[in-house]
Amino acid sequence: MVEHIHSAGLPPGLLRMMDNENPLGPSPKALDAIQTHMQSLNRYEWFDSDSDGNLTHLQPAEMLIRALADENGISLPEPFDLEKPHPIFLAPGVDQILKLLAVAYLSPGHGELIEAEVTYGEISEKARELDSAGIDTNVVQVPMTADHKHDLDAMLEAITPRTRLMVVTNPNNPTGSLLTYEAISAFVNSVPGEIVVVIDEAYFHFVKQPNYQSAMSLALSRDNVVVVRTFAKVYGIRGVMVGYAVSSQAIKEKLMLYNSGRTSPLSLMAALAALGDHDHVQRSRDTVISSRERLFHEFEAMNLEYIPSETNFVQVNVERDTEEVRLALWDKRIAVSPRGSQVMKGWIRISVGTMNEIETFLSAFKEVLPTISRLGE
Ligand SMILES: Cc1ncc(COP(=O)(O)O)c(C=O)c1O
Repeated sequence: MVEHIHSAGLPPGLLRMMDNENPLGPSPKALDAIQTHMQSLNRYEWFDSDSDGNLTHLQPAEMLIRALADENGISLPEPFDLEKPHPIFLAPGVDQILKLLAVAYLSPGHGELIEAEVTYGEISEKARELDSAGIDTNVVQVPMTADHKHDLDAMLEAITPRTRLMVVTNPNNPTGSLLTYEAISAFVNSVPGEIVVVIDEAYFHFVKQPNYQSAMSLALSRDNVVVVRTFAKVYGIRGVMVGYAVSSQAIKEKLMLYNSGRTSPLSLMAALAALGDHDHVQRSRDTVISSRERLFHEFEAMNLEYIPSETNFVQVNVERDTEEVRLALWDKRIAVSPRGSQVMKGWIRISVGTMNEIETFLSAFKEVLPTISRLGE
């Protein structure tokens, strides 16, 4: 019963199976870092001192960039200088980076963006905003393959002389489907060099496929590839808003040109601590994998079609009006998010929770579904 649920970061009696958050809560190390460094919020420059009184001038952006470089096997120029060329761009979240990319590459006008038909869509939303504001911009959404993946061949065929940006979300949201490194690499090889390929890896930590390989090496070796990653998912620190991009200097300079804000030092210190919190990452990943497998199992038992997900959510075909399902679940204080659009009518996306949350969701879900008629009945 939802009344007995007290989820991390929520008041009691509310179950959020939407927005693909971390059900375990924020990284405890990130919370410690926030506690420590919030004492310095009045200062423009932050310092630390050891027991011998030796002072260190803290440089949160540099510290996080160095840690991200370490984590991703990126070699930084030494001696390192934040202002000199290096491939990492920090921002207040990935949405911010996606919007910057749209503005940077599409605001000259007559540009075009190509993405999958069922995908995250934040970047195309910005592209449409530009178009509505009178900056001629075309958005092309390419239908998915039969197994709900990006149709990379069809995306290549959709390229026109206007194309400036192509977006691949991998694993994808809301389908949870994964493309192989080989497929992405072949795709990137076929995209003309003047088109920027954006690869959004918001959910890569949750991939279970043993031979999975990130596209990071492509971002480091090609001038026209950018990989974006967020701290909002596995690290559980959405509220501090940190994301990063890895790209060539050409793309990074565009991002910097259009960027007008900076990420708060408190957020950077939280991200730095979360990045090093391997225990929290492992526990979050294990929770997500076992919870999503529980959902797969139950959906199979209920004879509902679902997409085997490599993320912290599962897209399932409830074959019913999804708004009705959403409202019936919300009556029980369970929030879910219909993300099928017109193309995947009848599908809803369920973000995973802890096993206790999953069991509570499943019992409410099994109660609610039979009360709603199937589409077309
Ligand atoms: C694919 C994808 N990219 C980016 C984001 C947002 O990232 P951030 O919270 O860092 O803006 C989300 C959030 O759900 C997402 O699903």
